[in-house]
Amino acid sequence: MANILVIYYSRGGHTAQISRAIAQQITAGEHQCDVINLVEHKGEINWQQYDAVALGACVLYGSYHKSVFEFCRRHHEQLASLPNSFFCVNVVARKPEKRIPENNKYLQKFIELSDWKPQDVKIIAGKVDYPSWTWYDSLAIKLIMKMTDGPTDSKAVIDYTDWDDVKLYADHICQLTKA
Ligand SMILES: Cc1cc2nc3c(=O)[nH]c(=O)nc-3n(C[C@H](O)[C@H](O)[C@H](O)COP(=O)(O)O)c2cc1C
Repeated sequence: MANILVIYYSRGGHTAQISRAIAQQITAGEHQCDVINLVEHKGEINWQQYDAVALGACVLYGSYHKSVFEFCRRHHEQLASLPNSFFCVNVVARKPEKRIPENNKYLQKFIELSDWKPQDVKIIAGKVDYPSWTWYDSLAIKLIMKMTDGPTDSKAVIDYTDWDDVKLYADHICQLTKA
């Protein structure tokens, strides 16, 4: 039995939902999984009790919230001490070719800027949710969508996440412990 840690940054809740789905799949097998919101988590993490770690973050304006980089700065040694994976959630990845690491500039940016260099990476398509976003955020994302032929209707709520693939990713994280 493996004990897996999933850490996430989520602004609107979708990356949190993906993290919980990963944990659900892991614990549906014979494994254990803890899920931590890196902004809310207080206290120390007992890294030694885990057999693998996955850290996920949503893309915001072409990058990541500063708390993600700060967490990786403080904990890069502990992250690297375990079999580890980074998952990146963004809506440009609704296009299959943007889920290939070499083709996704947000993933490249993370690897460039983070003190932790993940051994394994995964790109997951996120959610467009204009009604829940401020007018400013909606406007900015509509521009990104316009440039990439995506939805620009203010009422659009579209979940692009392939939830079966999220389950496969969870299985893959479990496999990392055996590598
Ligand atoms: C303020 C803001 C900026 C965003 N910027 C980008 C972006 O530059 N590129 C992209 O592909 N997706 C972008 N997104 C889409 C998010 O990555 C996507 O909605 C994701 O599912 C959000 O996850 P969360 O609910 O965990 O915050 C942005 C979303 C918001 C709210």
